[in-house]
Amino acid sequence: MTQVPEWFTNAKLGIFIHFGIYAVGDVSESWSFYHNTISHEDYMKQIDGFTCEKFDADKWADLIKKSGAKYSVFTTKHHDGVALFDTKYSDLSTVKKSPYKNDIVKEFTDAIRKRDIRVGMYYSLIDWSHPDYATVYENGKVPEDLSAVNKYTSPTDGKQDEEAWARFVQFNRNQMGEVLGNYGKVDLLWFDGDWERSAEQWGLPELKDYLKSFNKDLIINSRFCGYGDYKTPEQGIPITRPEGAWEFCTTINRSWGYRPSDNHYKTLNQIIRMFCDCIHMGGNMLLDIGPKPDGTIDERQEAILLGLGEWIEPHKEAIFDTDEGIMHRYFLGGSTISKDKQTLYLFVYDKPEESVCLKGLCNKIKDITVLHSGKKLGHVIHGGVPWFNIPGTTWIELTPEDCHEHVTVLKVELEGEIEMYGGSGVVVSHN
Ligand code: GLC
Repeated sequence: MTQVPEWFTNAKLGIFIHFGIYAVGDVSESWSFYHNTISHEDYMKQIDGFTCEKFDADKWADLIKKSGAKYSVFTTKHHDGVALFDTKYSDLSTVKKSPYKNDIVKEFTDAIRKRDIRVGMYYSLIDWSHPDYATVYENGKVPEDLSAVNKYTSPTDGKQDEEAWARFVQFNRNQMGEVLGNYGKVDLLWFDGDWERSAEQWGLPELKDYLKSFNKDLIINSRFCGYGDYKTPEQGIPITRPEGAWEFCTTINRSWGYRPSDNHYKTLNQIIRMFCDCIHMGGNMLLDIGPKPDGTIDERQEAILLGLGEWIEPHKEAIFDTDEGIMHRYFLGGSTISKDKQTLYLFVYDKPEESVCLKGLCNKIKDITVLHSGKKLGHVIHGGVPWFNIPGTTWIELTPEDCHEHVTVLKVELEGEIEMYGGSGVVVSHN
């Protein structure tokens, strides 16, 4: 993993948008025809219902701004191959085939850039609709059991067509060039689907040089056969900190795209806690919404974004431009540390029975403040072995009445840079 520009690790929250024709028929994005729950033909017919009649890029961008997010990632093309941008290399685009003739990528990108939100483009390397796509096998290896081959991925007769594949690679490169070249500066390219071919087949590493030629600071996610810049765990929150820069992408309900039948929504409280879990381990959260085919956003998804933003607002200093926090063995909750290392922010998830416990802190405490209310809190320290530099336990006097309705953040200002004791204690041999 390479070093990513600082804006990314400081950004903490991004909004992912899965917008596509799959929103029309209550089916999953691309995978529905891949798994044969709908025929490819019927899947594609959804494009006629992709009206976007109420689509208003400024409204979306306002909502994203209000969520507190610093970047967004938009599906310019999913595995179904339907481009949401005006492409001259294919007829399969919403611009050419759907009732909505405008370039959605352009409208949306212009709107978010106006609001100082960084621009991220999702682009699927896979294109299950392109005639030249399913022409080779991963790594060029013909599988022994051809009956297990999915016809959208590779040929089912064992015969590879290298020329067709070369055409596809060029086509993909051309479209990536459009995405990176036609909409002003793109900050982040979010690839998906690298798993169906090898690095060599995708044309790596040369392809990466080509992409970076549009913007040398372009960040590319990890779904790039080992050539990406940061990790993208998905749906299952990491328990161990991923190495290097990372971002956890997650849906609000179970689906990436809009599915009216999916009512399995996470609560605002759960989303906030997940967000805290990510920043506690130095990561970002990329929270997904799936707009409806008329261009509006489900009110439950909207409410989550607004609620998240309302929580973030009074807690900004504990979130942005901070580093990962202390281990759970010191504090049973999330935390972050200011860049100068002299302030520790504790994320208290539940209302305390009595007080909040912080172990292993070597520094003297200057002040403790409940961030959203400004209320100062007292604390007591019990135990410790000062002559062996083993600190006592700090008990912070937070009452349930002082708590925020979601996550309460305590600002603990320290004397000097934070220092934590990590040993296993001693026998006190002299008193
Ligand atoms: C998966 C899926 C895809 C989804 C993506 C988001 O890899 O292939 O449907 O868009 O994850 O992270």
